[in-house]
This record gives sequence, C-alpha cells and structure tokens, in this order.
Amino acid sequence: MRVRGNGFFQGTLAHNNDEIDDARIFDTTLRDGEQTPRTSFDYDDKREIAALLDGMGVHVIEAGFPANSEAEFEAVRDVAEATDATTCGLARVVESDVEAAIDAGVDMVHVFASTSDIQIEDSMHATREEVVERSVAAVEQVADAGVEVMYSPMDVTRTDPEYLAEVLEAVDAAGVDWVNLPDTVGIATPSRFADLVRYVKEHTDARIDVHCHDDFGMATANAVEGIVAGADQAQVSVNGIGERAGNAALEEVVMAIESLYGVDTGIDTTGIAELSELVAEKAGVPVPDNKPVVGKNAFSHESGIHAAGVIENSETFEPGVMTPEMIGAERSIVLGKHTGTNAVRQHLEEAGYEPTDDEVVAVTKRVKEHAAGKRRVTTDDLHEFAADVGIERESAEVRA
Ligand code: KIV
Ligand code: ZN
Repeated sequence: MRVRGNGFFQGTLAHNNDEIDDARIFDTTLRDGEQTPRTSFDYDDKREIAALLDGMGVHVIEAGFPANSEAEFEAVRDVAEATDATTCGLARVVESDVEAAIDAGVDMVHVFASTSDIQIEDSMHATREEVVERSVAAVEQVADAGVEVMYSPMDVTRTDPEYLAEVLEAVDAAGVDWVNLPDTVGIATPSRFADLVRYVKEHTDARIDVHCHDDFGMATANAVEGIVAGADQAQVSVNGIGERAGNAALEEVVMAIESLYGVDTGIDTTGIAELSELVAEKAGVPVPDNKPVVGKNAFSHESGIHAAGVIENSETFEPGVMTPEMIGAERSIVLGKHTGTNAVRQHLEEAGYEPTDDEVVAVTKRVKEHAAGKRRVTTDDLHEFAADVGIERESAEVRA
C-alpha cells in the first residue's frame, strides 16, 4: 500500500481505510472522451494517449468504437497491438458491431443496450423483450469468440429495477464477465448509486464496473461510492472529458481512492500531470485553472495566510495526503493582490536578493498595488520593484 503524503491523520482522515479492498481503473478517454462535442482524436493521438495510459498501469483502455469507421477500426487495432493493458472496443447489440470489435483484436468487447423505457422507446425504437433478446445474442457472440465481455444496461439509473433484474439474469446466463452500470445522464447521487450497486450484485455473478457522468458534478463521488459499495472497477476519462459535462475524471477518482481511502490502485500517479496536458492538447479541451488535481491552481497559493503557511509546511493549506509530487506537478507561490510578506521574501530570495524586513514590506506594498489594477506580477515587475526600493542584489544567481 502506498504511503500517503502526510504523517497525521486526524478528523475525517483518521479512518481505518477498510471501505475499499481493491479498485481497478477502466479508461474511456479514447471512446466516451472522444464523444466530447467538437473533439476527435486521430490515429497518432490515440496511439500517444494509449501509450501513456498503458505505461501508468491503467487496467483497461477502451480504445474506441470499431464499427464506426475504417479509421477507427485501425486505431483500435493498433492500440490493442501496442499496449499491455486489456484493450476494449465498444459495440451496440448489433451483430456487425460485435464482429468489428472482435476483428479489431481487442481483449474485451463492451456491448451496450438501453434498458430505461424512455431510451428503449425513443432511442432504440424497440421493446423490452427485444432488448433482452438482442443483449443475450450479443453477449453470446462475444463469449463464443473467447473474448471477455462487458455488458452495459444503458441509462441504468432510470431503469425499472424489476426489468433490470430480468436483463441481468439473462445476460448472466449468456456468459457475461462484467456488468457496467452507466449513469448515462448523470442523475445518480452517491447513496442511491451505492444502493443500485448492491441491488445489481444480487442479480448477477459478473464483476461490476461503474460509469458515471458529471451533469450535476457528482461523477467522481458517485464512482467512488460505487466502488465503496462493492464495484470492482470505475470507468473514467482523463480531465473528465466526455459526453456533455463529461465523465468521472481519472485523476480525481485515482487520487481519491489512493489518498483518501489509502488503496493502491496500481496506477503510477506521477504520470497524471503529463497525461492531463497531452489529453487537453489533443482533445482541444483546456483544463480549467481550478480543476481538482490537474488544474493550474490545484497546488498554487496566493493569499498571505495560505502562502505563509505553505512556505512553512505545505500540509497546512494542502490536503497533505495528495502532493504535487504525487501527480508529477509542481507547487507555486503566486504574487498578487492577496500576497503577504513571506511569499514576497521567498520570491526575492529566489531571484538573488537578500532583502531586509523593511524592504520586503515595501516591495509587498508595490506588488499589491500593481495587482489591484488586475495586472499580473511578473519576474520583471519584481526586479523593477526591488530596484525602486533599492534592494542590494547579493547573489549572482538570478532566476530567469
Ligand atoms: O454513458 C453511457 O451510457 C455510455 C455507454 C455506452 C456505456 O457511455
Ligand atoms: Zn458514457
């Protein structure tokens, strides 16, 4: 088990860490992530992203939807050949889709069919009976090919529980290995989703996987609570990209499980920052500054009390159980309107000055005035303020 970042576990951190035994990570950046409006990955993008995911030890990489196009088929086949992770291809409960996924050489085929009445009627244009029949046929087709099979009752959180039990028992008898629970429109809450996981476990022998969308900002909490309730695996995407508001974010789910629940997922978390940057660039979806774990501000501090605390001991105003080093990022102390003297002293000393207390106070005043006009404080500005205040520069080492 990974040793968490700080030595004291008081308050809600003082927990026995027995809520989760084990957690596997299924990454769907290249499939649901690519369904982000206005996003598409080309062959090389998929290859590069898959290589990083694979190197970090992600358990399953859902590489795409092979029946979608010749290019997608080739990209999925390439990822399946080039990676050690279990690769997965998506398929509707349609014979030709399943065939394309099997032909792409994936280790797992993920078949899905709507099970909520609204989607059965107005999306699939089918009946409940037809959905059961087609689901069973698709699961059998994959199982007969000797490939691992995952089944998703799509829109499971709006599905009639009795009908869900019927579907699950039918696909169980057909040889399903995994049942994925998609909160397709993101309406679950953690406790309701946990109840659903427990209910589903009563109706299948398959292993359970969860797939949570973020329409109400609940995706990570729902996914983690699904694991606490007994799911074996969570589907996630890097930076949380995906349909509409996206999916549970890989970085959030992994770090919560590792740092808050004390469970080693087996993922090399130090690759998270690089992975996040790559996906943001390839997807054309920038990471918001305040995004948990990977946002520019996740380990940045400006206000006087926070910056002073962090300069003395970073655990004062950071979680402690999650550090920038753990995700391959760096901490920064930012100069701005809320800056205090400790941060200014640190910046001046790093720039090669040895200021007196009065000089630090004088530069701090200049920094605040400058930033109050909504201007950023750059290194050049700092040198200018230091010169104005008349600070001697003792060291030859000057930060760029
Ligand atoms: O959100 C969803 O329902 C999906 C399925 C294909 C699993 O992405
Ligand atoms: Zn989805």
